[in-house]
Amino acid sequence: MAQYDVVIIGGGPGGYNGAIRAGQLGLKVAIIEGRGKLGGTCLNVGCMPSKALLHASELYDAATNGEFAKLGIEVKPKLNLPQMMAQKADSVEALTKGVEFLMKKNKVEYIKGWGRIAGPGKVVVKAEDGSETTLETQNIVIATGSEPTPLPGVTVDNKRIVDSTGALSLPEVPKSLVVIGAGVIGLELGSVWRRLGAEVTVVEYLDRICPGLDDDTAKVFQRSLTKQGFKFQLGAKVTGAKASAKGVELSFEPVAGGAAQTISADYVLVAIGRRPFTEGLGLETVGIVPDKRGVIANDHFKTTAPGVWVIGDVTSGPMLAHKAEDEGVACMELIAGKAGHVNYDLIPGVIYTKPEVATVGKTEEELKAAGIAYKVGKFPFTANSRAKINHEGEGQVKVLADAATDRILGVHMVGPNVGDMIGEFCVAMEFGGASEDVARTCHPHPTRSEALRQAAMGVEGWTMQA
Ligand code: FAD
Ligand code: NAI
Repeated sequence: MAQYDVVIIGGGPGGYNGAIRAGQLGLKVAIIEGRGKLGGTCLNVGCMPSKALLHASELYDAATNGEFAKLGIEVKPKLNLPQMMAQKADSVEALTKGVEFLMKKNKVEYIKGWGRIAGPGKVVVKAEDGSETTLETQNIVIATGSEPTPLPGVTVDNKRIVDSTGALSLPEVPKSLVVIGAGVIGLELGSVWRRLGAEVTVVEYLDRICPGLDDDTAKVFQRSLTKQGFKFQLGAKVTGAKASAKGVELSFEPVAGGAAQTISADYVLVAIGRRPFTEGLGLETVGIVPDKRGVIANDHFKTTAPGVWVIGDVTSGPMLAHKAEDEGVACMELIAGKAGHVNYDLIPGVIYTKPEVATVGKTEEELKAAGIAYKVGKFPFTANSRAKINHEGEGQVKVLADAATDRILGVHMVGPNVGDMIGEFCVAMEFGGASEDVARTCHPHPTRSEALRQAAMGVEGWTMQA
């Protein structure tokens, strides 16, 4: 008889949330993690340390760029980078310990080491001291996450040419930083170092930032970043990089053709996407052949191998912590014979810059391509009293609703704290809500959330506050 109902390989948001749910459902569950700490990319080198630096650098920026002075607060800020890094590390440590506590609380066995599938129902764990243990299990869940996609010709040494992990721990504020890739990582971590004093240039292959983001929203966002001092080289193909002890010389050429250029910087951040991580996982022992998107689930997290499931970044779909988490929970519910479900149409995305960007559902471009008739309601934060009084009137809320039924199809926002507010629309949309439902719901005054309501009112043209 198998020792376990479920063995989860990988202790990130997919794995650890799944493990907690499995414990709650009474399954005998073990979670294997090789990095020595639970929490995966998200807690250790992703979501959480980046947000710690975004928060601290935002306050530093406000103190240095005149925002505090405008409020009548006169200070002489002095950057203490080691302390900023130390508080980040302390918070991360507390979070990973918290997850370890949750494992105990939910009767999950946490096994430290690297896991490898060794045939149906078998997982071998290699501990740090090299010893190996074989676990027998009814179900194996692959939750091994992702890693940065390398860029040929620009080798990450995490000294001068860094990936996101290196960019979370630079030893100094660069005078100049070149970011390759105008995606989420590039713009969030670019923001951190710009606020701390770096000149930031973003080199992007496409002719726009944030591919996949609603066009109009991306333009509003780019305008704001440009105002903050970001420089953009769009439509640029990086052709090579020479790193020395002093910095990096990066060469690129226009994608559309034209003269090659070089740019020098103290540091280069490569942030051109992430790819599924399956190294040394023994997939061949159960006949799984991963493709570019990782281990493919045919049906509700089930792989081609019986009893082997997959969740999170290592499989298709957006590489987001909350998507991994929801998949972990739903997967365990299915294993326990219940009805687990993830609504892939309503996974929100947030970029934690200032202003923030938050989005859920379809973009205008997607609706046009699908031939769906829609109405638009927009509301600018300049017309929201709370945002205005706080001097944060940048950005807008855009609501897209079905032209015939008024059902909300997509919401795209740039503005203050929009990441915390998008949940309102996630709930409304999960319930099949119409823009009128949000428009007729009383919202507290004065809050930024009134801008969401006003945009919903705008769909039928009865906005009050513009
Ligand atoms: P991971 O978190 O990658 O966890 C997988 C774990 O499996 C790792 O700890 C790894 O060590 C372990 N592992 C791999 N192979 C084995 C093996 N064979 N044996 C044992 N253990 C193994 N997402 C958001 O939603 N919001 C954000 O704000 C956000 N910010 C980010 C910022 C950065 C800089 C980065 C890099 C990512 C960010 N993400 C964010 C993405 C988020 O981190 C991932 O989507 C999320 O961590 C995926 O969870 P996961 O459980 O699938 O994989
Ligand atoms: P990304 O996919 O968001 O952006 C990569 C960018 O690089 C794109 O604009 C792409 O066009 C560009 N690019 C690709 N190849 C290039 C090349 N050769 N030269 C120049 N540009 C090139 O990927 P990113 O920023 O690396 O993030 C990886 C993942 O991490 C994302 O899937 C994201 O979901 C997740 N993440 C989420 C965060 C959040 O939710 N706030 C924060 C950080 C990461």
